[in-house]
Amino acid sequence: MSVGRRRLKLLGILMMVNFFIYVIVEVSRNSGQEKNSKSHVIVPKSSFWRKHIPHKAYWNKQQQKLERLYNPIFALLSNITVEESLSSNINFTNSCDPDPFVASQVSGFEDLPDRFKDFLLYLKCKNYSLLVDQPHKCKHKPFLLLAIKSLIPHFDRRQAIRQSWGKEIKSGDTTVVRVFLLGQTSPEDNYPDLTDMLKFESETHQDILLWNYRDTFFNLTLKEVLFLKWVSNTCSGAQFIFKGDDDVFVNTHQILDYLKSLTKDKAKDLFIGDVIQHAGPHRDKKLKYYIPESIYEGSYPPYAGGGGFLYSGDLALRLTNASDQVLLYPIDDVYTGMCLQKLGLAPEKHKGFRTFDIDEKQRNNICSYTNLMLVHSRKPQEMIKIWTNLQDPNLSC
Ligand SMILES: *[C@@H]1O[C@H](CO)[C@@H](O)[C@H](O)[C@H]1NC(C)=O
Ligand SMILES: *[C@@H]1O[C@H](CO)[C@@H](O)[C@H](O)[C@H]1NC(C)=O
Ligand SMILES: *[C@@H]1O[C@H](CO)[C@@H](O)[C@H](O)[C@H]1NC(C)=O
Ligand SMILES: *[C@@H]1O[C@H](CO)[C@@H](O)[C@H](O)[C@H]1NC(C)=O
Ligand SMILES: *[C@@H]1O[C@H](CO)[C@@H](O)[C@H](O)[C@H]1NC(C)=O
Repeated sequence: MSVGRRRLKLLGILMMVNFFIYVIVEVSRNSGQEKNSKSHVIVPKSSFWRKHIPHKAYWNKQQQKLERLYNPIFALLSNITVEESLSSNINFTNSCDPDPFVASQVSGFEDLPDRFKDFLLYLKCKNYSLLVDQPHKCKHKPFLLLAIKSLIPHFDRRQAIRQSWGKEIKSGDTTVVRVFLLGQTSPEDNYPDLTDMLKFESETHQDILLWNYRDTFFNLTLKEVLFLKWVSNTCSGAQFIFKGDDDVFVNTHQILDYLKSLTKDKAKDLFIGDVIQHAGPHRDKKLKYYIPESIYEGSYPPYAGGGGFLYSGDLALRLTNASDQVLLYPIDDVYTGMCLQKLGLAPEKHKGFRTFDIDEKQRNNICSYTNLMLVHSRKPQEMIKIWTNLQDPNLSC
């Protein structure tokens, strides 16, 4: 065989190898996706380096636009900086007026339930102001910051948490501080006016953060984004953060022991909880987590259930940056999973997080709680009872 033909043959083999690698990557990528998404093997019809897949769903389309603005190569090609690319597009600045384009861009917008219309109309607005702040909360860099999502009327839940697992601690190098994350409960949602009671509570306990947005299920993502901004601005020295709901029991001692046992490397990227994999949007209109096809398509990244998760302060600062590049999504824990994915990370499952509760027969046995980190859900009286029993010096499990 001549040298020329041998080269040609080699080139041919190389190209075939490349093509097979491509096919294998595509097949494994698609089989990793969630079942009810159309996950058949895609055999490329045209040039197989094609990357741009146009989306039909509104959220995906808008997210793609946002990513283009942040893409340094796109900016370079347009001979502008990323900052210029961002500011040239008024559609992605913090616009807080109802979006005038959205109704014409989402198919069937008029027939969507109101919560979706509200969500879409104010999708680009993230800059709500703090009405009640705790600017000195992290004066002494906390080892652990407890951030609890609550609603203004839940006074008893907050008080039970203060008296049990959410106690602030200052002993040696272990500082634990607590904040409750609140939005507004407005008369338009028929909430009673509890302003005076909240004022009293906040002055008494100094652990309330209140932002001026409407506290609804779909706005929990705003709570997440605003909290991350608060951490960056006011509590950037926190070593670890627990964020969870006000109806969970947390074994704070177990969490502290766990955190103190971590190596430096593990601690830096820590993000643990009850992780949900291979999930996707629910399409049944009656479900709380229903998302219409016209809004989102595709699967969800791995995410830790919003009942409670634990992560490093270092990661919180990176998540704050990532959150600028991810459009608000109506489900907060999925949103956090999306931000982690942007950083090339995934949450890790820890079996101590029991967001789907423990076996019913075990619930009254105090020894079931000694090795757990979190259980969902518990009433205020149950929280206090479990906590008190866990403190018993004669407890032997
Ligand atoms: C890029 O912009 C700079 C100044 O803004 C200009 O001097 C330069 O010619 C531009 N380059 C191209 C390729 O347009
Ligand atoms: C904003 O979005 C609308 C609808 O997609 C489009 O018509 C308009 O040109 C956009 N404005 C800018 C400045 O990109
Ligand atoms: C957020 O920022 C935009 C643009 O800077 C401003 O028009 C709007 O009033 C701000 N919204 C809130 C709720 O502060
Ligand atoms: C979220 O809060 C904003 C600001 O209060 C409000 O305009 C919007 O209707 C809320 N969205 C949802 C889905 O409740
Ligand atoms: C966040 O972004 C800012 C501005 O781009 C940058 O200066 C900072 O280092 C980033 N922080 C982290 C933790 O990545």
